[in-house]
Amino acid sequence: MRIPIIAGNWKLYKTVAEGRELVTGLLAGLGAVTDREVVVCPPYTALFPLGELLANTPIALGAQEVFSETQGAFTGAVAPQMLRDVGCTYVIVGHSERRQFFGDTDATVNRKLHAALAGGLRPIMCVGESKPQRDSGQAEPIVTAQVRGGLVNVSAEQLLNVVIAYEPIWAIGTGDTATAADAQAMHAAIRATLVELYGDEAAQTVRIQYGGSVKPDNVDELMSQPDIDGALVGGASLKADSFLRIIHFQ
Ligand code: 13P
Repeated sequence: MRIPIIAGNWKLYKTVAEGRELVTGLLAGLGAVTDREVVVCPPYTALFPLGELLANTPIALGAQEVFSETQGAFTGAVAPQMLRDVGCTYVIVGHSERRQFFGDTDATVNRKLHAALAGGLRPIMCVGESKPQRDSGQAEPIVTAQVRGGLVNVSAEQLLNVVIAYEPIWAIGTGDTATAADAQAMHAAIRATLVELYGDEAAQTVRIQYGGSVKPDNVDELMSQPDIDGALVGGASLKADSFLRIIHFQ
């Protein structure tokens, strides 16, 4: 049984005060959530105060990025244990925006993923194809290669702490979500890759989130698919009412 995981990626939005307001609204409307996990990933500047606000609540804290070294002369970088220190449980690695604007590759994603695991964080590793890649029929080999590249030298035991997020780039921030059937097909291909790498038992435990224009009106259908185990939500996670509706998917 995989426990669904709904995570909000706030990207470059929210001051500390705005983050407090959003989290307070989420906590107020959350209710009892025992059959699903909820995570928010604010910008670095809001992690510490929101970590305090979320302590001993059902909402876990995640960061949007981590560096692969624990310390040293790396101006601007943040290390895994620093994220643990401010209350993070999860960290996103390899988001397509990091790959596009900040030079992440499968190799750097793999290093960050190892650092996150070694530092006691659970990585949410993002993969996904561009529109031209999908249109040329290359989506599946490209995405499964990203999965393999990101998981190099990750053991079956470590895999238990890894979440994979399939985020087709063309669906991010566009309102143009993948159909539930297309998303399911890719999730099944990702799981088949995990079966090849780790065997069936380990592969069946891994949560694979879908991300890319997840909204209150499409979350139920997406979540009804057998290999879609959660959502990584951008825009719709920035308001309490829409994120709560997504959290409370049927
Ligand atoms: P949107 O939900 O805004 O499309 O963003 C998805 C995303 O990139 C989450 O990481």
